[in-house]
Amino acid sequence: MLKGKDLLSIHELSVGEVETILDLAQELKAMQKAGIEHRVLAGKTLGMIFEKSSTRTRVSFETGMFQLGGQALFLSNRDLQIGRGEPIKDTARVLSRYLDGVMIRTFEHSKVEEFAKYADIPVINALTDLLHPCQALTDLLTIREHKGKNLEGLKMAYVGDGNNMTHSLMYAAAKTGMHFVAATPADYAPDAEVRRRAEEDAKETGASIALVTDPFAAAKDADILVTDTWASMGQEAEHEARKKIFAPYQINKNLLAVADKRAIVMHCLPAYRGEEITDDVMESFADVIFDEAENRLHTQKAILALLMAD
Ligand code: CP
Ligand code: NVA
Repeated sequence: MLKGKDLLSIHELSVGEVETILDLAQELKAMQKAGIEHRVLAGKTLGMIFEKSSTRTRVSFETGMFQLGGQALFLSNRDLQIGRGEPIKDTARVLSRYLDGVMIRTFEHSKVEEFAKYADIPVINALTDLLHPCQALTDLLTIREHKGKNLEGLKMAYVGDGNNMTHSLMYAAAKTGMHFVAATPADYAPDAEVRRRAEEDAKETGASIALVTDPFAAAKDADILVTDTWASMGQEAEHEARKKIFAPYQINKNLLAVADKRAIVMHCLPAYRGEEITDDVMESFADVIFDEAENRLHTQKAILALLMAD
């Protein structure tokens, strides 16, 4: 049902498609751990266009394609003609003639949408300023592993900047029936249109979406506490100013104390210890946070297989 489609936003996936991705990710993870081959993309090539830095996304997509029997090409905008002004709509049509799928990490979300409009191969959003769907789907898999398969009714509290992770987690929570609360400074609240769409999705699953400014109100009795950097890629010049604005939004022992006793802490990484999360909290949840990093591999393999396999 996902074959040939794009994956630009979790909002565009059905509730069933989200479940299918997570189920297959769990299956592929088990197969990989058991040493069972799963070369369902033999002979296929994924293009990986990066206009921003990456550790996890690049390595997990590239390794994932290899494990699925295919290959991946790292295409930096410094090397592609796109970096010298070749239009996206031309690049999309050219690359569609060589590749079987493409993943893109860029700034404006509209660039990924334009690429997908002109490409006739599956296009995967590997992070834009607006959304980071592969990471949020990975987070759902990680929550399943630590909290059980049924995510309905869990409270997820996001604390920090209302950014691409907040938006994708909001969609992810809405598709799986979770209660999502984001605490951000008023001027850094999540996008209103994303919230509206997440609330639409929430009607189908019984999820709820709330936006607050008090981190303690968000964290109270939470099953999952999540944060992300206070200065995303492209906001480096604002980093010092943001450190002051976001100081009350740190995940530390005091905030954790109001969450559920069995709460887990998540972070998509890279983490800036002493800013959005303290070193002690980060280290005491290292098992969850590095499972989360590992799960990028398994979740993206599921996405690649569903979109690209014959
Ligand atoms: N979480 C994440 O996307 O990490 P990278 O920026 O290293 O790819
Ligand atoms: N919000 C962060 C996520 C990094 C994976 C960024 O966009 O830089």
